[in-house]
Amino acid sequence: MGACYTLVALSLLFAIAAQLGTAEVHYHNFVVQAKPVKRLCKTHNIITVNGQYPGPTLEVRNGDSLVIKVVNRARYNVTLHWHGIRQLRTGWADGPEFVTQCPIKPGGRYTYRFTIKGQEGTLWWHAHSSWLRATVYGALIIYPELNKHYPFNKPKREATVILGEWWDANPIDVVNRAARTGAAPNVSNAYTINGQPGDLYKCSSKGTVIVPVASGQTNLLRIINAALNQELYFAIAGHELIVVAADASYTKPFTTSILMIAPGQTTDVLLIANQPPGRYYIAARAYVTTQNAAFDNTTTTAILEYKSAPCPSKGSSTTKTSKPIFPSLPAYNDSGPATAFAAGIRSPSPAPVPNNVDVNLFFTVGLGTFNCPRGRTCGGPNGNRFTASMNNISFVLPRNLSMLQAHQFGIPGIFTTDFPAFPPVQFDYTAANVSQALWQPIPGTKVFKVKYGSTVQIVLQDTNIVTGENHPIHLHGYDFYILAQGFGNFNPRTDTQNFNLIDPPLRNTVAVPVSGWAVIRFVADNPGVWLMHCHLDVHITWGLAMALLVENGVGKLQSLEPPPADLPPC
Ligand code: C2O
Ligand code: CU
Repeated sequence: MGACYTLVALSLLFAIAAQLGTAEVHYHNFVVQAKPVKRLCKTHNIITVNGQYPGPTLEVRNGDSLVIKVVNRARYNVTLHWHGIRQLRTGWADGPEFVTQCPIKPGGRYTYRFTIKGQEGTLWWHAHSSWLRATVYGALIIYPELNKHYPFNKPKREATVILGEWWDANPIDVVNRAARTGAAPNVSNAYTINGQPGDLYKCSSKGTVIVPVASGQTNLLRIINAALNQELYFAIAGHELIVVAADASYTKPFTTSILMIAPGQTTDVLLIANQPPGRYYIAARAYVTTQNAAFDNTTTTAILEYKSAPCPSKGSSTTKTSKPIFPSLPAYNDSGPATAFAAGIRSPSPAPVPNNVDVNLFFTVGLGTFNCPRGRTCGGPNGNRFTASMNNISFVLPRNLSMLQAHQFGIPGIFTTDFPAFPPVQFDYTAANVSQALWQPIPGTKVFKVKYGSTVQIVLQDTNIVTGENHPIHLHGYDFYILAQGFGNFNPRTDTQNFNLIDPPLRNTVAVPVSGWAVIRFVADNPGVWLMHCHLDVHITWGLAMALLVENGVGKLQSLEPPPADLPPC
């Protein structure tokens, strides 16, 4: 017994020493400010962090802490969210406005403080207020702890590829106009790679991003979909991609030539430069699942360039001047490659999937309409206003206080705890014509309460109300296993049998198949108020969101930390 005790104590000491020896604290100043940026031949004053577009890349190691001092010099309220960071006990640093904090007002400041615990890979950060994240975003790269390694051979080079979306307008004006008319907001004018549309767009050739590679070398590409409203297909001409991680969780390596990345998701791939030296297009364009809706059908490109490619010389056409080779991308509405890609992503096995479900939930996700106010004309379906909901509740953000503060201090009137565990009305969710009597949800600010430590399973079921659509559902504060997904209505009898409990992918954002469903499972071991929402900003704007309230457990280590003193006032 004594020996055993000594051993445990010793290993604890070593663990602490290792932590003290390697963990670092990174200090950053983030100034949110307008900055003139020229794209598609025109200059717009966009909101940025430190004048950078995309914003600064954060590079840390697992175990490190971040202290990010945000000063708001823009004319809009702002908050920042560290997408995919678990924020264990530090919900105050999570960022969604009116959920975990009140926004930082123009002239205001707030310091986000959090520690990376047990996460490695590619995440990102973005504004979480109105549509500011259209331009306010950046990569967050988490390397393994010092002296620890990737679970694959160390690549010679790494590059970050952030996919974005550009409006030839102020994105805040775009969403505000849509809110006035009830219509769908204008689609974007370009997609971007690292902030650049690439040379298929007017006035864009000069800025086209070059990703250099050397013959024979292995490269790690960290691909992030920061687009506001669009799932994207992604490919690189002539090259296979080996997926090794998604949403900062390692995967069983799998080889594919096409990626489907939904907004909010990240995918890390290895690319071996094993093709004839030359220039190859890196390209992304829409994966569209809506019926009869407008979409941005343009294609963004960057160029994969072999360093050993012959240099341009006088008089001869060379690889530098010749047109790069273009990859083949799926048809816009082809769900085949998206389905195949989702099926290819697996955890290294065996994955520690929690077994006994304590809380069984079934949430519909989908669009809807609100009646147009009398005497007015609206631009949505049937002359009404677009809306969206989960379990028929269209989420409304509080205005006077954040939900987390209301929870912590027991302030009533900000939210209610009656979010339904099941759809209030059951119907054939994916029928071709869902009765219009079912189109109108109820607005509300409701949470579903969960006991600390319970195992939660949620069936996310798309509906065909207005139109079925692939919804990338993101849960704050957690990673979850995706046990299964499919088309049509979830059938508990047959579909439960096919749950993958061996090597399901672990992610923070699941692309719920169009007119289909996905089942996620996780242990609620992080107390706080955690937003779950569609990562298409147009849908969260319409109310496709809810929040889980995870109660404190026993003792300090299972409880939310007290709020920081500089939490912005409402
Ligand atoms: Cu990436 Cu709630 O967001
Ligand atoms: Cu959605």
